[in-house]
Amino acid sequence: MTKVAPGSLLDIEHLEATEIAALLKLARRMNPLQPKLRLRGKRVLLLFYEASTRTRSSFEIAAQSMGAMTTLVLSSGSSVEKGESLLDTGYTLEAVGADALVVRHPAAGAPLLLARHLKIPVINAGDGMHEHPSQALLDAYTILGHKKTLSGRKVVILGDIYHSRVARSAIHLLSKFACRVTLCGPPELLPESAAGLAPGLEIVRSAEDAMRGADVILVLRLQKERLLGMKIGLEDYTARYQMTMPRLRLAKRDALLLHPGPINRGLEITAEVADCPQSAIVEEVRNGVRVRMAILARALRTA
Ligand code: NCD
Repeated sequence: MTKVAPGSLLDIEHLEATEIAALLKLARRMNPLQPKLRLRGKRVLLLFYEASTRTRSSFEIAAQSMGAMTTLVLSSGSSVEKGESLLDTGYTLEAVGADALVVRHPAAGAPLLLARHLKIPVINAGDGMHEHPSQALLDAYTILGHKKTLSGRKVVILGDIYHSRVARSAIHLLSKFACRVTLCGPPELLPESAAGLAPGLEIVRSAEDAMRGADVILVLRLQKERLLGMKIGLEDYTARYQMTMPRLRLAKRDALLLHPGPINRGLEITAEVADCPQSAIVEEVRNGVRVRMAILARALRTA
């Protein structure tokens, strides 16, 4: 990969398993309630061109709880509305004194472009349909809170795989740790074959078949805003792919249920499953703070 600002976190694909393990280890040392002020005097800028609740608030809380100050720049209400380019916005934020930039953008590769041109570390908080590395890290962290290891686990990723940067980052991470990953979803949202995608990956069309023997199920939101003219019948989708209690019961008894949020109750998941004891949806959000503390500490070399 072309040279990028040191400390950047752009994707999972190009991270070594040892770097991922080190980040997860660092996250375990982070205590959001009694944090060390590792980032005192640092300025973390959050540049968000897309909607976000969890990712944005947890990066902000992570940075502030370590003593950094944060500034949030949204595309609406900023000079982006006046036509300023992404790079010019990046140069501006570097010039006002940002020490690190956390970026969410609808275009794949936007954080990489910034990291190639700026001197400060850039953290990808989700870029288009490409990657969402901090989400994959917090999901791995959450799984490891319940299972001793990742290796050999059967992880089912269910739903709108095609539009999901969460799925892409998760697949890269889980395959680096020798998980068996099963993708399940309708043909419109999932390729014909898993050949060449990642080692240990299989595609199963029936949700019932996919669930059997699962240790972890990662349910994805049906990304209605990205479906753009695709003919997905919502009734048919829920009939075949909605995460329901009968489907959950086909998985292992101690199977863990994940969803990156925001959840659409009654669409990709029933309320009953979202709130059941096996659901770690709220725990994922909680873990997101310490994982993002670790990402920022690594970015600013204050770990
Ligand atoms: C995801 C995202 O924005 O990529 N949300 C998140 O960050 N937790 C998933 C989604 O929008 O479905």
